[in-house]
Amino acid sequence: MGFDQQTLENFLHLGRKHPYLPFSIHLFDNLPSTNQKVWQLVDQGAKPGCVVIATQQTAGRGQWGREWISPTGGLYLSVAIAPKLEVTNNYQLTLASAWGITSQLRNYGVSVGIKWPNDLVLDGRKLGGILTETKVRQGQISQAVIGVGINWVNPVPETGINLKSWQATQNFHPMSGLEMLTATVLLGIESGLKCLHHEGISILLSRYLNLLTNMGDQVYVNNLLGTVIGVSPQGNLRLKITEDDNNKLMTPEISIEPGTISLGYCKNSV
Ligand code: BTN
Repeated sequence: MGFDQQTLENFLHLGRKHPYLPFSIHLFDNLPSTNQKVWQLVDQGAKPGCVVIATQQTAGRGQWGREWISPTGGLYLSVAIAPKLEVTNNYQLTLASAWGITSQLRNYGVSVGIKWPNDLVLDGRKLGGILTETKVRQGQISQAVIGVGINWVNPVPETGINLKSWQATQNFHPMSGLEMLTATVLLGIESGLKCLHHEGISILLSRYLNLLTNMGDQVYVNNLLGTVIGVSPQGNLRLKITEDDNNKLMTPEISIEPGTISLGYCKNSV
């Protein structure tokens, strides 16, 4: 694997004074799925902060049961955490990670935004995504794995973009390599979880909404035209209804659960 663990550790060390999640890094060349590997390690006693990174995945998992095509050149990582959260709030882990990773990348000048609920978008195209998996005991999340896939130099579909080619078009190269990108993503996850834990969901949500590219979008759901006005603490998209079939005003607001509609690509980022 052409990935240098020491360079990653150096970036992590430079990026934080007081670790909130004590990362322990495990590198692999080829895995079915980094999320699956972290669950295996957790079952064998791995602690929160256990990180698995793979050069490629043969059975990468995407949201809503989709496959995440994972050729060499992309970033594929997963982190074990043990959050103290009610199961009804499980989507907050994804909101926190999406905000943390996006804002960390923006600190380096990568003008990425969030497409509801969990996509990282750059120039209106998908740069990466997040898949959070949880284990629940008596209504509480006992363990969770946060998995992140980011397009670095791997080939992407038409609605996707990779960061290396974006950097080339910008004529500046904020991310020096996959190690720096990996550190940025890990520090982003850490800062998102820290914000959720210490400052709470209202503050986290207001930060998430500032980076959401869909604010103000017009969306049709069940023949109703709505405008995106925000996201609920459970991760639902909030729409203000502007008209119904007969142009009469209806229920002023509806909320849509993640996974029930797709918002599409190719609009300007925040
Ligand atoms: C999405 O569908 O947008 C989320 C994709 C998440 C993919 C990542 S790649 C690393 C980790 N391991 C997996 O099997 N999936 C996640």
